[in-house]
Amino acid sequence: MTQTETASEALFQPMIWQQDHLQLLDQRLLPHQEHWLRLEHADQAATAIRDLAVRGAPAIGITAAYGAVLAACECRQQDKAGWREEWITQLGKLAQARPTAVNLGWALDRMLSIELPEDDPLARLEQEAIAIHQEDINCNRQLAALGSGLIRPGSRVLTHCNTGPLATGGIGTALGVIISAWQQGRLTDVFADETRPWLQGSRLTAWELTRHQVPCQLIIDGAAAWLMASQGIDWLIVGADRVAANGDVANKIGTYSAMLAARSHGVNTMVVVPWSTVDMNTTDGGNIPIEQRADSEITNIGGHQIAAEGATSWNPVFDITPAELVDFLVTERGIIANPDQAKIAELA
Ligand code: MRU
Repeated sequence: MTQTETASEALFQPMIWQQDHLQLLDQRLLPHQEHWLRLEHADQAATAIRDLAVRGAPAIGITAAYGAVLAACECRQQDKAGWREEWITQLGKLAQARPTAVNLGWALDRMLSIELPEDDPLARLEQEAIAIHQEDINCNRQLAALGSGLIRPGSRVLTHCNTGPLATGGIGTALGVIISAWQQGRLTDVFADETRPWLQGSRLTAWELTRHQVPCQLIIDGAAAWLMASQGIDWLIVGADRVAANGDVANKIGTYSAMLAARSHGVNTMVVVPWSTVDMNTTDGGNIPIEQRADSEITNIGGHQIAAEGATSWNPVFDITPAELVDFLVTERGIIANPDQAKIAELA
């Protein structure tokens, strides 16, 4: 079974399920090389998530769901009767691949919670993984329609990190809103932070925008405040890896400073997420685990050492934006203005 999109939506699919394996577009090599990985085993799915061959909260969740199917195949081949115990261990390993994006645990919990028929559990698991993928595609459409409806014609937007088709099942979250708003003629300019240290903005967002024929102007992350002060930006639109029950937002490092700058300059802020990114079990941002990655992501670029020999680094790859800096939280369940614990609980 494969999924296809209509041309008016995402113009490419980075994850393609092929009955017994997952084809994955390797995001580490973009935009210079379009190389596809063939994942046949659950541990390959865990490695692909950990090593950023696939990244972005919804895409991580979808990959993990297919990884759970691959794990079940392997466990049943080894022990047809008692496969579930080893399968649960395998899911635990998948869950550890990255800590911040809640969609990973959400997708695995959903795979674990379904009732499996004795005769053909694999078909049921495959059906659920495909449903998770398809629901994200549909959800992206809703997010794009809801979020773009907030944007007045003639607006200029800034985004951070990568939230488009590479990071999701469909057209994207924040970037889906931006692509849709551009197609509706609501935008005059789209700016994207390059997003240090991994350059999701300059490598991935710029690639996606260009493929969707949306002109993209890159800025260095440190230029965001001055862009707002000097160029009349109307919106800062971002995705999230996890939204806590009180509306605090964990997203790519640099989001918090861009949000602070937006508040300071009267720029509207929009956080666009599928409901699977809202974690009602985490009360506030202080309880969200923040992933720390290797020094080399900062000290090196493209495999070349650029920092002075001997320098180390502090490399948290996410930060927390307090809910009070978020003007609009857009989910497929609806739009919340000035999100807080009570408003999110109502939608939940
Ligand atoms: O480290 P990454 O590239 O997985 O971080 C991704 C982000 O921070 C995205 O903004 C977030 O996952 C939203 S994706 C729709």
